[in-house]
Amino acid sequence: MAKATDKNMNAETLLSVLGRDPEAHHGVVNVPVYHASTILYPNVAALKKAGKREFGKVFYGRHGTPTVFALQDSVARIEGGWRSFAFSSGKAAILAALLAFLKSGDHLLMVDSAYGPSRELAKGLLSRLGISHTFYDPLIGARIGELMQPNTRVIFTESPGSLTFEMQDLPAIAKVAHGAGARVIMDNTWASPLYCNPFALGADVSVQAATKYIVGHSDAMLGMVTVNEESFKAVNQAFDDLGACAGPDDCYLALRGMRTLAVRLERQGETGLRLAEWLAARPEVARVLHPALKRDPGFDIWSRDFSGASGLFGVVLKPVPEKAVIALLDGLELFGMGYSWGGYESLAIPTYPHKVRDASEWDPAYPCLRFHAGLEHPEDLIADLNKGFARLNKAKRRKRKKRTAYTKD
Ligand SMILES: Cc1ncc(COP(=O)(O)O)c(C=O)c1O
Repeated sequence: MAKATDKNMNAETLLSVLGRDPEAHHGVVNVPVYHASTILYPNVAALKKAGKREFGKVFYGRHGTPTVFALQDSVARIEGGWRSFAFSSGKAAILAALLAFLKSGDHLLMVDSAYGPSRELAKGLLSRLGISHTFYDPLIGARIGELMQPNTRVIFTESPGSLTFEMQDLPAIAKVAHGAGARVIMDNTWASPLYCNPFALGADVSVQAATKYIVGHSDAMLGMVTVNEESFKAVNQAFDDLGACAGPDDCYLALRGMRTLAVRLERQGETGLRLAEWLAARPEVARVLHPALKRDPGFDIWSRDFSGASGLFGVVLKPVPEKAVIALLDGLELFGMGYSWGGYESLAIPTYPHKVRDASEWDPAYPCLRFHAGLEHPEDLIADLNKGFARLNKAKRRKRKKRTAYTKD
């Protein structure tokens, strides 16, 4: 099989051919799962050569096996980065990316709408290590310059934001960061490596919770850090220091997930938009948070910087008692409830963005939901939601005994 070296190949083709090497594996289509800690060498010279720890070469299990290297190569290439590192979870990948560039006395700027546990890292572990932080408004754009301190070393972005889905002007942020010698790290999980290339927008490092769309089947935990050439050394060191390597079985599942990423995302993105449009027309809905909707404030940035939309978005309901929201959610048949997304199955959960914000306002009177569109037929999903809104309205009409945090009046 010819090696996929043609730079002009489309992403769908690359997803199908990258990381495969049948000649090296008895003709087997997929790179097999290599379980390994010890790697044996035939002589001292070979042992010493491997000890130089060349990236992408076997040395010791923690540094990867051919299964891991195949995944890393595939993600790096699709996301437009230089190299990629596989970690045991998305959170481990985020920590590694941050620790690669921050030390005691440094300052971190983190977007206010970052994934909750990323914010917790800034407030907890990094603070204890003497690294200060400022959360910034996701809509700040080039005004981020006003928050830069002489010791700001990293700007951590996530676009669109977790729960609230604001788009960030990455090129404007990167220009300010680079002008001051700081690095830009982007959590690119929503778009996956396929729909956003953060390096073309000025990011130095991209983080993926591969647990989501890359694995795609809700059955493995995995994180990826992809870097540009200048950021390789620091992240390689963090990868080495942390020892939070990914297991080979999970890398195999992720590589298998990559093969179908384009078809899954295309369908899930379409279904997500269809649900978003339907929800936007509901009288109970105040606002839909989806950057690929034309009337969304993030639409211009999304259409400039992204090549597609995944299936995750938010909904802001008009004020209703909490029991009405619970009635909607509890009876759903096709939407599961769980603290994740990115699999083939649809999900719906209540969210509380006002609890995870420091630098931007969010009105707690309006109940929020987060939806994830899976691979089910959109009409079945809409029918399920339709029944959900009937339950909401019925519960709303029932006599209210006490006020809830959700009730505005
Ligand atoms: C945007 C985002 N980044 C990172 C993570 C963390 O990934 P993991 O759960 O694999 O640690 C998540 C998990 O939900 C996420 O939603």
